[in-house]
Amino acid sequence: MSIHRHTTSTKTAELQREIDDIYSVQLDHVTKDFGGGALGLDDVNIGFRTGRVTVLLGLSGSGKSTLLRHINGLHTPTSGTVRVLGQDVGSVGKRGLRELRRNIGVIFQSFNLVGPMSVLENVCAGQLGSLKGPRISLMMYPKSVRREAIEKLDRVGLADRAYQRADTLSGGQQQRVAIARALMQHPTVLLADEPVASLDPVSALDVINLLRQIAEEDDLTVIASLHQVQLAIDFADRIIGLRSGQAVLDRTTQGLSAEEASTIYSSVSGMDIAEAGPGSATTATGVVRTPMSSGVTR
Ligand SMILES: Nc1ncnc2c1ncn2[C@@H]1O[C@H](COP(=O)(O)OP(=O)(O)O)[C@@H](O)[C@H]1O
Ligand SMILES: [Mg+2]
Repeated sequence: MSIHRHTTSTKTAELQREIDDIYSVQLDHVTKDFGGGALGLDDVNIGFRTGRVTVLLGLSGSGKSTLLRHINGLHTPTSGTVRVLGQDVGSVGKRGLRELRRNIGVIFQSFNLVGPMSVLENVCAGQLGSLKGPRISLMMYPKSVRREAIEKLDRVGLADRAYQRADTLSGGQQQRVAIARALMQHPTVLLADEPVASLDPVSALDVINLLRQIAEEDDLTVIASLHQVQLAIDFADRIIGLRSGQAVLDRTTQGLSAEEASTIYSSVSGMDIAEAGPGSATTATGVVRTPMSSGVTR
Protein backbone atom coordinates (compact mmCIF):
# COMPACT_ATOMS: atom_id res chain seq x y z
CA MET A 1 0.00 0.00 0.00
CA SER A 2 2.71 2.44 0.97
CA ILE A 3 4.71 1.46 -2.12
CA HIS A 4 1.70 2.06 -4.30
CA ARG A 5 1.16 5.42 -2.72
CA HIS A 6 4.81 6.32 -3.21
CA THR A 7 4.65 5.38 -6.89
CA THR A 8 1.54 7.41 -7.37
CA SER A 9 2.96 10.55 -5.78
CA THR A 10 6.21 10.24 -7.77
CA LYS A 11 4.24 10.00 -10.97
CA THR A 12 2.18 12.99 -9.97
CA ALA A 13 5.27 15.06 -9.25
CA GLU A 14 6.71 14.07 -12.62
CA LEU A 15 3.52 15.01 -14.37
CA GLN A 16 3.45 18.32 -12.51
CA ARG A 17 7.00 19.03 -13.69
CA GLU A 18 5.96 18.42 -17.28
CA ILE A 19 3.01 20.75 -16.86
CA ASP A 20 5.29 23.33 -15.23
CA ASP A 21 7.53 23.22 -18.29
CA ILE A 22 4.65 23.97 -20.62
CA TYR A 23 2.91 26.54 -18.45
CA SER A 24 5.09 29.07 -16.62
CA VAL A 25 2.03 30.43 -14.84
CA GLN A 26 -0.96 28.38 -13.74
CA LEU A 27 -4.07 29.53 -11.95
CA ASP A 28 -6.17 26.73 -10.58
CA HIS A 29 -9.64 27.62 -9.28
CA VAL A 30 -8.40 31.00 -8.08
CA THR A 31 -10.98 33.07 -6.27
CA LYS A 32 -10.27 36.37 -4.55
CA ASP A 33 -12.85 37.77 -2.20
CA PHE A 34 -11.99 41.30 -1.09
CA GLY A 35 -15.14 41.36 1.03
CA GLY A 36 -18.06 43.63 0.37
CA GLY A 37 -19.89 41.64 -2.28
CA ALA A 38 -18.29 41.29 -5.71
CA LEU A 39 -15.34 38.94 -6.16
CA GLY A 40 -12.02 40.27 -7.47
CA LEU A 41 -11.45 36.92 -9.15
CA ASP A 42 -14.10 34.26 -9.49
CA ASP A 43 -12.89 30.69 -9.99
CA VAL A 44 -10.25 31.48 -12.59
CA ASN A 45 -8.50 28.56 -14.32
CA ILE A 46 -5.80 29.55 -16.77
CA GLY A 47 -2.47 28.12 -17.86
CA PHE A 48 -0.15 30.69 -19.41
CA ARG A 49 2.17 28.94 -21.84
CA THR A 50 5.89 29.45 -21.54
CA GLY A 51 7.27 31.86 -24.13
CA ARG A 52 3.90 33.20 -25.23
CA VAL A 53 2.35 36.64 -25.07
CA THR A 54 -1.08 36.77 -23.47
CA VAL A 55 -3.24 39.84 -23.08
CA LEU A 56 -5.83 40.21 -20.35
CA LEU A 57 -8.61 42.24 -21.82
CA GLY A 58 -11.43 43.75 -19.84
CA LEU A 59 -13.11 46.87 -18.61
CA SER A 60 -11.93 48.73 -15.52
CA GLY A 61 -12.70 46.67 -12.45
CA SER A 62 -12.87 43.36 -14.34
CA GLY A 63 -9.96 41.91 -12.35
CA LYS A 64 -6.91 42.38 -14.59
CA SER A 65 -4.65 43.94 -11.97
CA THR A 66 -5.90 41.54 -9.34
CA LEU A 67 -4.95 38.59 -11.53
CA LEU A 68 -1.49 40.01 -12.24
CA ARG A 69 -0.91 40.69 -8.55
CA HIS A 70 -1.62 37.05 -7.73
CA ILE A 71 1.19 35.99 -10.05
CA ASN A 72 3.93 37.77 -8.14
CA GLY A 73 2.40 37.11 -4.77
CA LEU A 74 1.17 40.62 -4.02
CA HIS A 75 -2.26 39.09 -3.49
CA THR A 76 -3.02 35.73 -1.92
CA PRO A 77 -6.01 33.85 -3.28
CA THR A 78 -8.97 33.31 -0.98
CA SER A 79 -9.10 29.84 -2.50
CA GLY A 80 -7.30 28.03 -5.27
CA THR A 81 -3.61 27.87 -6.17
CA VAL A 82 -1.17 29.88 -8.26
CA ARG A 83 1.92 28.15 -9.65
CA VAL A 84 4.70 30.21 -11.20
CA LEU A 85 7.86 28.74 -12.70
CA GLY A 86 7.21 25.41 -11.05
CA GLN A 87 6.50 26.80 -7.60
CA ASP A 88 3.32 27.19 -5.60
CA VAL A 89 3.34 30.92 -4.87
CA GLY A 90 1.27 30.37 -1.72
CA SER A 91 3.75 28.01 -0.10
CA VAL A 92 7.24 29.17 -1.13
CA GLY A 93 7.67 31.36 1.95
CA LYS A 94 9.12 34.84 2.19
CA ARG A 95 12.56 34.01 0.88
CA GLY A 96 11.19 31.76 -1.86
CA LEU A 97 8.90 34.55 -2.96
CA ARG A 98 11.80 36.99 -3.11
CA GLU A 99 13.71 34.57 -5.32
CA LEU A 100 10.69 33.93 -7.49
CA ARG A 101 10.14 37.66 -7.97
CA ARG A 102 13.64 38.03 -9.36
CA ASN A 103 12.44 36.02 -12.34
CA ILE A 104 9.35 38.16 -12.80
CA GLY A 105 9.79 41.56 -14.42
CA VAL A 106 6.99 44.07 -13.89
CA ILE A 107 5.98 47.06 -16.00
CA PHE A 108 3.45 49.57 -14.70
CA GLN A 109 1.09 52.05 -16.28
CA SER A 110 2.82 54.92 -14.48
CA PHE A 111 6.37 53.70 -15.28
CA ASN A 112 7.45 53.98 -11.60
CA LEU A 113 10.79 55.59 -12.35
CA VAL A 114 12.59 57.79 -9.84
CA GLY A 115 12.16 61.09 -11.67
CA PRO A 116 15.11 63.09 -10.34
CA MET A 117 17.53 60.20 -10.88
CA SER A 118 19.34 59.64 -14.14
CA VAL A 119 17.99 57.19 -16.69
CA LEU A 120 21.04 55.00 -16.13
CA GLU A 121 20.57 54.88 -12.35
CA ASN A 122 16.95 53.89 -12.84
CA VAL A 123 18.00 51.01 -15.05
CA CYS A 124 20.79 49.93 -12.68
CA ALA A 125 18.18 49.81 -9.91
CA GLY A 126 16.63 46.85 -11.73
CA GLN A 127 19.51 44.83 -10.31
CA LEU A 128 18.76 45.70 -6.70
CA GLY A 129 17.04 42.39 -6.15
CA SER A 130 20.32 40.58 -6.58
CA LEU A 131 22.74 43.14 -5.12
CA LYS A 132 23.26 43.44 -1.37
CA GLY A 133 22.50 46.74 0.31
CA PRO A 134 21.10 50.00 -0.99
CA ARG A 135 22.83 52.01 -3.67
CA ILE A 136 22.74 55.76 -3.27
CA SER A 137 24.68 56.83 -6.32
CA LEU A 138 25.60 55.53 -9.70
CA MET A 139 29.23 54.99 -8.73
CA MET A 140 28.14 52.50 -6.11
CA TYR A 141 27.02 50.07 -8.77
CA PRO A 142 29.72 47.72 -10.03
CA LYS A 143 31.07 48.68 -13.42
CA SER A 144 29.67 45.49 -14.91
CA VAL A 145 26.19 46.52 -13.81
CA ARG A 146 26.55 49.98 -15.31
CA ARG A 147 27.81 48.48 -18.54
CA GLU A 148 24.92 46.07 -18.71
CA ALA A 149 22.47 48.89 -18.02
CA ILE A 150 23.86 50.80 -21.00
CA GLU A 151 23.40 47.68 -23.12
CA LYS A 152 19.77 47.41 -22.01
CA LEU A 153 19.23 51.08 -22.78
CA ASP A 154 20.72 50.51 -26.19
CA ARG A 155 18.22 47.72 -26.71
CA VAL A 156 15.31 50.02 -26.07
CA GLY A 157 16.89 52.75 -28.21
CA LEU A 158 17.80 55.15 -25.42
CA ALA A 159 21.52 54.72 -24.77
CA ASP A 160 22.03 58.37 -25.71
CA ARG A 161 19.75 59.43 -22.84
CA ALA A 162 21.65 57.56 -20.09
CA TYR A 163 22.73 60.61 -18.12
CA GLN A 164 19.56 62.63 -18.50
CA ARG A 165 17.09 62.95 -15.61
CA ALA A 166 14.38 60.34 -16.03
CA ASP A 167 11.58 62.87 -15.59
CA THR A 168 12.76 64.88 -18.59
CA LEU A 169 11.84 62.05 -20.99
CA SER A 170 8.52 61.64 -22.77
CA GLY A 171 6.04 59.05 -21.50
CA GLY A 172 6.92 56.58 -24.21
CA GLN A 173 10.61 56.99 -23.48
CA GLN A 174 10.03 56.55 -19.76
CA GLN A 175 8.21 53.29 -20.39
CA ARG A 176 11.15 52.14 -22.51
CA VAL A 177 13.44 52.90 -19.57
CA ALA A 178 11.14 50.87 -17.34
CA ILE A 179 11.43 47.98 -19.80
CA ALA A 180 15.23 48.27 -19.74
CA ARG A 181 15.11 48.27 -15.94
CA ALA A 182 12.97 45.12 -15.91
CA LEU A 183 15.41 43.41 -18.28
CA MET A 184 18.23 43.91 -15.76
CA GLN A 185 16.64 41.10 -13.74
CA HIS A 186 16.90 38.69 -16.69
CA PRO A 187 13.26 37.79 -16.16
CA THR A 188 11.60 34.78 -17.70
CA VAL A 189 8.13 36.11 -16.95
CA LEU A 190 7.13 39.70 -17.68
CA LEU A 191 3.96 41.19 -16.23
CA ALA A 192 2.73 44.46 -17.71
CA ASP A 193 -0.26 46.14 -16.10
CA GLU A 194 -1.76 48.59 -18.61
CA PRO A 195 1.70 49.39 -20.00
CA VAL A 196 0.41 51.86 -22.58
CA ALA A 197 -2.65 53.32 -20.89
CA SER A 198 -0.84 56.60 -20.12
CA LEU A 199 0.59 57.01 -23.61
CA ASP A 200 -0.61 58.66 -26.82
CA PRO A 201 -1.53 56.18 -29.58
CA VAL A 202 1.77 56.50 -31.45
CA SER A 203 3.94 56.00 -28.35
CA ALA A 204 1.63 53.19 -27.25
CA LEU A 205 2.20 51.35 -30.49
CA ASP A 206 5.93 51.95 -30.17
CA VAL A 207 6.06 50.44 -26.70
CA ILE A 208 3.84 47.50 -27.66
CA ASN A 209 6.04 46.73 -30.66
CA LEU A 210 9.14 46.89 -28.47
CA LEU A 211 7.58 44.55 -25.91
CA ARG A 212 6.63 42.11 -28.65
CA GLN A 213 10.14 42.18 -30.09
CA ILE A 214 11.81 41.64 -26.72
CA ALA A 215 9.37 38.88 -25.82
CA GLU A 216 10.31 37.02 -28.99
CA GLU A 217 14.05 37.61 -28.70
CA ASP A 218 14.23 36.61 -25.04
CA ASP A 219 11.52 33.96 -25.17
CA LEU A 220 9.63 35.67 -22.37
CA THR A 221 6.29 34.62 -21.02
CA VAL A 222 4.42 37.91 -21.18
CA ILE A 223 1.13 38.63 -19.47
CA ALA A 224 -0.14 42.14 -20.11
CA SER A 225 -3.40 43.88 -19.42
CA LEU A 226 -4.82 46.19 -22.03
CA HIS A 227 -8.06 47.99 -22.74
CA GLN A 228 -7.76 48.15 -26.52
CA VAL A 229 -9.07 45.17 -28.45
CA GLN A 230 -7.10 45.76 -31.62
CA LEU A 231 -3.78 46.37 -29.87
CA ALA A 232 -4.39 43.16 -27.95
CA ILE A 233 -5.10 41.15 -31.08
CA ASP A 234 -2.02 42.40 -32.88
CA PHE A 235 0.29 42.11 -29.85
CA ALA A 236 -0.75 38.84 -28.27
CA ASP A 237 -0.70 35.16 -29.12
CA ARG A 238 -3.71 34.73 -26.93
CA ILE A 239 -6.42 36.85 -25.39
CA ILE A 240 -8.13 36.18 -22.10
CA GLY A 241 -11.26 38.25 -21.58
CA LEU A 242 -12.19 39.11 -18.02
CA ARG A 243 -15.55 40.28 -16.80
CA SER A 244 -16.47 40.65 -13.13
CA GLY A 245 -13.50 38.53 -12.12
CA GLN A 246 -14.40 35.68 -14.44
CA ALA A 247 -12.51 34.52 -17.50
CA VAL A 248 -15.28 34.82 -20.09
CA LEU A 249 -13.15 34.48 -23.20
CA ASP A 250 -10.02 32.55 -24.05
CA ARG A 251 -8.74 32.34 -27.58
CA THR A 252 -5.65 32.48 -29.71
CA THR A 253 -5.27 35.48 -31.97
CA GLN A 254 -4.01 33.53 -34.95
CA GLY A 255 -6.38 33.79 -37.87
CA LEU A 256 -8.83 35.93 -35.93
CA SER A 257 -11.12 37.67 -38.40
CA ALA A 258 -12.22 41.27 -38.01
CA GLU A 259 -15.75 40.03 -37.53
CA GLU A 260 -14.77 37.70 -34.71
CA ALA A 261 -12.59 40.42 -33.30
CA SER A 262 -15.55 42.70 -32.99
CA THR A 263 -17.34 40.15 -30.81
CA ILE A 264 -14.51 40.27 -28.31
CA TYR A 265 -15.48 43.62 -26.92
CA SER A 266 -19.05 42.53 -26.37
CA SER A 267 -17.93 39.37 -24.61
CA VAL A 268 -15.71 41.24 -22.16
CA SER A 269 -18.12 44.12 -21.64
CA GLY A 270 -21.32 42.12 -21.68
CA MET A 271 -22.69 44.57 -24.19
CA ASP A 272 -23.63 43.74 -27.74
CA ILE A 273 -22.09 46.33 -30.05
CA ALA A 274 -24.81 45.91 -32.65
CA GLU A 275 -27.37 46.88 -30.03
CA ALA A 276 -25.39 49.85 -28.81
CA GLY A 277 -26.44 52.82 -30.87
CA PRO A 278 -24.20 55.68 -31.97
CA GLY A 279 -23.08 57.83 -29.08
CA SER A 280 -23.62 55.02 -26.60
CA ALA A 281 -21.08 54.13 -23.95
CA THR A 282 -19.77 51.33 -26.11
CA THR A 283 -18.66 53.54 -28.95
CA ALA A 284 -16.59 55.56 -26.51
CA THR A 285 -13.99 52.81 -26.71
CA GLY A 286 -13.52 53.53 -30.41
CA VAL A 287 -11.09 50.66 -30.75
CA VAL A 288 -13.58 48.02 -31.80
CA ARG A 289 -14.68 49.92 -34.84
CA THR A 290 -11.31 50.03 -36.53
CA PRO A 291 -10.35 46.37 -36.56
CA MET A 292 -7.22 46.42 -38.67
CA SER A 293 -5.89 49.87 -38.06
CA SER A 294 -3.40 49.66 -35.22
CA GLY A 295 -0.41 48.68 -37.36
CA VAL A 296 1.42 46.56 -34.80
CA THR A 297 4.33 44.74 -36.40
CA ARG A 298 5.17 41.20 -35.41
N1 LIG B 1 -7.23 45.88 -2.61
C1 LIG B 1 -8.52 45.79 -2.92
N2 LIG B 1 -9.48 45.85 -1.97
C2 LIG B 1 -10.79 45.74 -2.27
N3 LIG B 1 -11.26 45.56 -3.51
C3 LIG B 1 -10.37 45.51 -4.51
C4 LIG B 1 -8.96 45.62 -4.27
N4 LIG B 1 -8.31 45.51 -5.46
C5 LIG B 1 -9.27 45.36 -6.39
N5 LIG B 1 -10.50 45.34 -5.83
C6 LIG B 1 -11.77 45.15 -6.54
O1 LIG B 1 -11.64 44.02 -7.37
C7 LIG B 1 -12.23 44.25 -8.65
C8 LIG B 1 -11.19 44.11 -9.74
O2 LIG B 1 -10.28 45.20 -9.66
P1 LIG B 1 -8.98 45.32 -10.55
O3 LIG B 1 -8.27 44.02 -10.55
O4 LIG B 1 -8.23 46.50 -10.07
O5 LIG B 1 -9.60 45.58 -11.99
P2 LIG B 1 -8.90 46.08 -13.33
O6 LIG B 1 -7.42 46.03 -13.12
O7 LIG B 1 -9.40 45.15 -14.39
O8 LIG B 1 -9.39 47.48 -13.55
C9 LIG B 1 -12.87 45.63 -8.58
O9 LIG B 1 -14.20 45.48 -8.21
C10 LIG B 1 -12.07 46.30 -7.47
O10 LIG B 1 -12.85 47.29 -6.84
MG1 LIG C 1 -6.03 47.55 -13.25
